[in-house]
Amino acid sequence: MDDLRDKYLQAIAAADDEATLESLRLEAVGKKGEVSLKMRELGKMSPEQRQQVGPQLNALKEEINSALAAKKAALADAALDERLRGEWLDVTLPGRPRAQGTIHPVSQVMEEVTAIFSDMGFAVAEGPQVESDWYNFDALNIPSHHPARGEMDTFYMHRAPDDERPPHVLRTHTSPVQIRSMEAQGAPIRIICPGRVYRADYDQTHTPMFHQIEGLALDRDISMANLKWVLEEFFTAYFGTKVKTRFRASHFPFTEPSAEVDIQCSWVDGQLRIGEGDDWMEVLGSGMVHPKVLRAGGIDPDKWQGFAFGMGIDRIAMLKYGIPDLRAFFDSDLRWLRHYGFFALDRPTLHGGLNR
Ligand code: PHE
Repeated sequence: MDDLRDKYLQAIAAADDEATLESLRLEAVGKKGEVSLKMRELGKMSPEQRQQVGPQLNALKEEINSALAAKKAALADAALDERLRGEWLDVTLPGRPRAQGTIHPVSQVMEEVTAIFSDMGFAVAEGPQVESDWYNFDALNIPSHHPARGEMDTFYMHRAPDDERPPHVLRTHTSPVQIRSMEAQGAPIRIICPGRVYRADYDQTHTPMFHQIEGLALDRDISMANLKWVLEEFFTAYFGTKVKTRFRASHFPFTEPSAEVDIQCSWVDGQLRIGEGDDWMEVLGSGMVHPKVLRAGGIDPDKWQGFAFGMGIDRIAMLKYGIPDLRAFFDSDLRWLRHYGFFALDRPTLHGGLNR
């Protein structure tokens, strides 16, 4: 029995994985293990012998079992220590920063403008950037050969040489959305349409693609007075300060009468300030929608009337945020975007504030 004890206790102590332990267990105390076989022999012994050998065998079995259990626990501890050594993590290291994008000033200003006009009951409408000459010109009372077509530096879409139809154009203004909205929803109507427009022009204040926002309000008795109130309300909310406006008589084929609108500003040491001083800065075109335009949109000019305006978004973004060169808006220069961009989680709203 002492030989058995020594043999198994030494083997258990030397085992270095669980599988070895399990086979030792079967060999010693399994159903056909050496200790178990010895226990079967008890039946053939005399009662005296049995009384002596039985308890000794039981004690040996227990000793081997607890040596197995202890070794198993020790192996598990060692495995865990090994893992902890291999998988350590220094939680005191500083995090690795991730580059964060910013909101482009044009997007920011579109949201500011939309928030202000939504509050005055204007819904947002949109139209295509590739437009038919009907929507971009004819429906707006600009027939072919009208000088305004030439003045607009229009981009024309290519047609096959044998295709006689007039070419589509990249819309030169957001005014075609007036017609599309009239057709789609009839009168009364109160919408703004922000979007991209295109003209072949390039210098410090002109890029071939830029942004406009169109406004249109039609009802039974809308007048220039309503236009003036809406625009002054808008500029004051947008610039965060009371801004005077100046309406100058002008001409657009699609409005009658027409006015260009300037806002009050001052130039101090080359710095532009809006809402003070006695200089003026032109920011939009506007007027009462021409009866021919209403008719083109399927609306009866004897029953309905209203105002329209078109404003440059990039222009008012430059004015509010002091950005000197329009061309840089579309260069995608990361340094410019980081400098003039806006924090993505800080969206402009009337309740949260519109001025950054
Ligand atoms: N569409 C004109 C432009 O692009 C602006 C405008 C819009 C004028 C609506 C009057 C009414 O210059």
